[in-house]
Amino acid sequence: MNLLIRPEGPADAPAIAEVTRLAFTYNDGLRENEMIEEIRTSGRFLPNLSLVAEVGGRTVGHVIVAPADLRGEPENPDRPRRVLYLGPISVLPEFQRRGIGSDLMRAVLGAVQGRPEPMVVLWGHSDYYPRFGFRRAAEFSLHPDTPTAMIYPLRNDLSAYAGLELPA
Ligand SMILES: CC(C)(COP(=O)(O)OP(=O)(O)OC[C@H]1O[C@@H](n2cnc3c(N)ncnc32)[C@H](O)[C@@H]1OP(=O)(O)O)[C@@H](O)C(=O)NCCC(=O)NCCS
Repeated sequence: MNLLIRPEGPADAPAIAEVTRLAFTYNDGLRENEMIEEIRTSGRFLPNLSLVAEVGGRTVGHVIVAPADLRGEPENPDRPRRVLYLGPISVLPEFQRRGIGSDLMRAVLGAVQGRPEPMVVLWGHSDYYPRFGFRRAAEFSLHPDTPTAMIYPLRNDLSAYAGLELPA
């Protein structure tokens, strides 16, 4: 399989929407495509952190990482809260379990190295993401304390973020 992973370009949006629609079978990717569109129109969009996977020129996978803010402690508006948020990630059903999702994860985690944000956060399956270095958010005193709330540290000391909550 000749797999190419590259940043999203201006013509890629429809193919990304289709991959997302077909991957998220439970809701036709409606919420996930809204999330992607929100990122593109929000000013938070970083084209180098929206990666497509292609096989033979066909878009078969996608992952997006974008800046987002941790929540909580409204009485402390000056606390640092800016992080990176990963998701959605999608691979076409007929291309799943061939390592494409893992390749997308490794590529996007490579692309975030050197960014100013202190961590990547995500909501996801606790048996999938730890293999890429994600750890339960509660280990870093981030909320909520649930196995699906995970973070990938980009620096050693994250104590400045303790008590804050992952974005929805
Ligand atoms: C999650 C997803 C991107 C993984 O892509 P992929 O190309 O199948 O991933 P890989 O082939 O690299 O890895 C397959 C591994 O992921 C695991 N996996 C895949 N989907 C999973 C899921 N929904 N829950 C738990 N584990 C899952 C498989 O068990 C497999 O593990 P194994 O290698 O130990 O058997 C893909 O399954 C997908 O698009 N799913 C639908 C959309 C979705 O749920 N996205 C993530 C939201 S958190």
